[in-house]
Amino acid sequence: MHVDPLETLRRRRSVKWRTYPADVLPLFVAEMDYALAPPIAAALRAAVDASDTGYSAAQPDLGIALSGFAARHWDWELDPASVTAVTDVGVGVVELLRLLVRPAGSVVISPPVYPPFFDWPPEAQAQVREVPLTAEFHLDLPALEQAFAAHPAVYILCNPQNPVGRVHTRDELTALVRLARLYGVTIVSDEIHAPLVLPGAEFTPLLTVPGAGQVAITVASASKGFNLAGLKCAAIVTGSPAMAAVVDRLPPDVRWRTGHLGVIATVAAYTEGDDWLASLHTALDARRTQLGELLRTRLPTISWRPPEATFLAWLDCRALGADDEPQQLFLTSAKVALEPGTRFGAAGAGYVRLNYATSPDILDEATARMASTTPR
Ligand SMILES: Cc1ncc(COP(=O)(O)O)c(C=O)c1O
Repeated sequence: MHVDPLETLRRRRSVKWRTYPADVLPLFVAEMDYALAPPIAAALRAAVDASDTGYSAAQPDLGIALSGFAARHWDWELDPASVTAVTDVGVGVVELLRLLVRPAGSVVISPPVYPPFFDWPPEAQAQVREVPLTAEFHLDLPALEQAFAAHPAVYILCNPQNPVGRVHTRDELTALVRLARLYGVTIVSDEIHAPLVLPGAEFTPLLTVPGAGQVAITVASASKGFNLAGLKCAAIVTGSPAMAAVVDRLPPDVRWRTGHLGVIATVAAYTEGDDWLASLHTALDARRTQLGELLRTRLPTISWRPPEATFLAWLDCRALGADDEPQQLFLTSAKVALEPGTRFGAAGAGYVRLNYATSPDILDEATARMASTTPR
């Protein structure tokens, strides 16, 4: 996987490279440092050369492309016609919540989880109910049953789960679907990290679980797996007429809000991106191993569970004695920017999230800097 030299990376104008001064190594937001997959770059160049920069007309191409990708990677036979393009995963989830939650209704989430999960329900006038993951980062099914018995409108599933990198198993998802059906809760499944399931783990698309189609809607995207977040394209997928009827109620103007270049890049990713994605998995697997080794030798007071998916490492820094804000120590003393664990929920106090989708050299440099600030 090619990574440009730091001075070239710093010319990028995305959030990762514009938030901190040049002496800080940015390992916070979930953007990758790798060069774009060549078929995606070619598709985008061709669009620009042809001045093909108007409004997006996502279907049927997006549905056909996602359906092919899902069948090849996860044995998931999804109907291309069940796919609806949206701006991004966040917009997709919020628009679905607006349809599914009555005023003052509630939405259950399982922290530690991607920070906007706390913000999306209030954006749709809903209350958040937290049912944290267990200490081993599994879905807490007994606690979820208790929460579902109070009849929340929606459970937002994060699978694979950011920031802990857990890939929920088919058995866990089967139990979750059973509870959702029993208590009449709709599951909105955020599967943005699915293309990033690493060697050793197996991804189960929620809609392949028997009965899930009746109660679940999936929001998928190529944006994390192929680093396309700025291009704005995601896909809502349904597996039953009942859930398709929900999506049919999306405001008609939503279809004008997907990025045309996002659709072009996403279709290229899903149809021509397999080889690049395989190389990405190999690279991330190697970086995961490297990070484990660097933590063991340089930062032995930090503990972690290597993620099964994503390029994000959830680091337990509680033994450092840096109060609840270790990222502040790493930012000011080591000039390494990480995500503060508390953004992912109260249980994140004393944790940081580190993005390892970078070069071996940058990872080496970042951990050396971090080690220089901490007692061994
Ligand atoms: C779980 C999860 N959902 C959604 C997003 C954001 O997706 P989008 O930019 O498509 O809204 C992220 C970004 O990292 C994420 O980790």
